[in-house]
Amino acid sequence: MRRRTVMMVFIAALAGVATIAGVRLFSTRSGEAAAIAQGRQLYAGMCASCHGAKLAGQPGWDRPLPSGRMPAPPHDASGHTWHHPDGVLFRITREGPGAVVGDGYESDMPGFGGILSDDDIRAVLTFIKSTWPERERTYQGEMSRREIGKTQ
Ligand code: HEC
Repeated sequence: MRRRTVMMVFIAALAGVATIAGVRLFSTRSGEAAAIAQGRQLYAGMCASCHGAKLAGQPGWDRPLPSGRMPAPPHDASGHTWHHPDGVLFRITREGPGAVVGDGYESDMPGFGGILSDDDIRAVLTFIKSTWPERERTYQGEMSRREIGKTQ
């Protein structure tokens, strides 16, 4: 009789853990879907004018403009956004490329820190990342994991 009670408690505990794990998984997934939806809207309003509605960048983006500054690169797999870890992408978006590169580097892209909250910036980047094929996502994920390893 006692053994049976112990067993019942054990099974109930297992079910509880499974439920919590399930809820976690579900909320992470739906949280990501919400961030992608929010990021897509922010991208259209704030980034598409330079980086293109389809993330294709400005024509001739790999050659300097007559001003000497660089055009806006694509954010799709043909560009190099996916070469950078999360922290770098976040800082470029919040502070602008000029501040991140330093040394008086001039860029046509402003920092968005005064307009977008940190969560907004994360949502835009989550949207951009959601458009990449598996290979680019895996590579960028690995870069981000290494970046976290370096700062800890
Ligand atoms: C006024 C034009 C303009 C707007 C608007 C703009 N960007 Fe940019 N962005 C650029 C340019 C130009 C560069 C190239 C940086 C350089 O070398 O000067 C760039 C570069 C970047 C990079 C670095 C890419 C790489 O491969 O190194 C990221 C990330 C980025 N932009 C994100 C964003 C996001 C996110 C938004 C919207 C919130 C945005 N940009 C809005 C012009 C713009």
